[in-house]
Amino acid sequence: MSSKLQAIRGMNDLLPERSPLWQYFEGQIRTLMQQYGYLEIRTPMLEQTALFSRSIGEVTDIVEKEMYTFDDRNGDSLSLRPEGTAAIVRAAIENGLLHHQTQRLWYAGPMFRHERPQKGRYRQFHQVGVETFGLEGPDIDAEVIALSARLWQALGLREHVRLEINSLGSLEARHAYRAKLVAYFNHHLDELDDDARRRLDSNPLRILDSKNPDMQGLIEAAPRLIDHLDDDSVAHFEGLKRRLEALGIDYVVNPRLVRGLDYYSRTVFEWTTTALGSQGTVCAGGRYDGLVEQLGGRPTPAVGFAMGVERLILLLETLDLMPAAAEDVLDVYLMGQGEDIDLHLLKMAETLRSRLPSLRVQVHCGGGSLKSQFKRADRSHARFAAVVGEQELADGVVALKDLRGDDPQQLLDSDALVARLAQWIEARPAAL
Ligand code: HAM
Repeated sequence: MSSKLQAIRGMNDLLPERSPLWQYFEGQIRTLMQQYGYLEIRTPMLEQTALFSRSIGEVTDIVEKEMYTFDDRNGDSLSLRPEGTAAIVRAAIENGLLHHQTQRLWYAGPMFRHERPQKGRYRQFHQVGVETFGLEGPDIDAEVIALSARLWQALGLREHVRLEINSLGSLEARHAYRAKLVAYFNHHLDELDDDARRRLDSNPLRILDSKNPDMQGLIEAAPRLIDHLDDDSVAHFEGLKRRLEALGIDYVVNPRLVRGLDYYSRTVFEWTTTALGSQGTVCAGGRYDGLVEQLGGRPTPAVGFAMGVERLILLLETLDLMPAAAEDVLDVYLMGQGEDIDLHLLKMAETLRSRLPSLRVQVHCGGGSLKSQFKRADRSHARFAAVVGEQELADGVVALKDLRGDDPQQLLDSDALVARLAQWIEARPAAL
């Protein structure tokens, strides 16, 4: 017997009963992006591996152990995108989107990371993100944060998420700080675990992110980046804080927030929730002023974020904030028996769809007794069954039966049927 084929661990099917939840979320996103005048960009799911190693960083978890990387038939090393930012920078440079112009872009789609799957953490997951280019002031940092805050408001999540911000300073300030940090940890080498020792040369800032309880005291006492910022970065950070305050967006400064990707400078931020257990970061981002140049473009300031769609939908469900998905996806179910009637119903359905474009119509397929057809109609949750028998066919009418209300059955000709269904469309409850 052949073995049963299964989906890859950590990669989920979205089943029809849950797709309305995703459509609801995606609808909110489209409205939001229009409100701020952001334009959508779509890039391929596969890129050259070097794009990610050069941008996210050689010694980050993502590049070291989480990418889906393979050689294609030409022997080129390709990777499934683990995030969107690098690919969008590549696309913006390659297509000349950054020449003497600013850009405010958004994107949505699947990302891939070979992490250990658990609730809220998957190997294929979906992000919605924004990336802006050519704007260096804290005004645009405040705008992208305000945009995310507006989404929480629209989804009813405002009270359930918390904003943490930090500044990583300029690259130069970060290098100077890095030297201080390495000196500090070198003094306490025997207190570092293996992971931290390994990172000491390659990426010492990431040691601050360690979850090892034995190292928390050491990390607490380490020099803080926020105390070593250059003056311009301090002014930038203060500018951001003033704008968040003016907008009434509460925040907490978290000096330990460093993020797991190497391209950041100055502002970094995360929106977190306590309602999802350990995978509580629902949205994260920051400024990456050096990345465009690093990938071959002209120096261009940039800031953006990405949110985890699965986590947000899970959060909405956990907090019972998801509007109920409408079960009634059909308005009318057409049925009858025999080849002549089948043909008639087929044409009738097309006519109805042309005359009433928002009507949801299905024709019974597969024959069977009228009794079994009525059962199917009932299970389809359609409001009406439209039945045609030999007599109705001869008289040019249909019998319209109300499956969920008390309307008496009516014999209607084509125009009367359209009129009745048009009236129903006006009255029917809005779908999710
Ligand atoms: P990130 O922090 O790696 O940043 O991911 C952003 C968000 O994606 C996370 O906060 C989380 O909600 C979601 N996420 C990440 N990994 C998983 C996973 N395995 N399963 C489910 N959800 C996940 C970035 O990706 C940056 N590109 C963000 C950015 C844009 N920075 C500037 N612009």
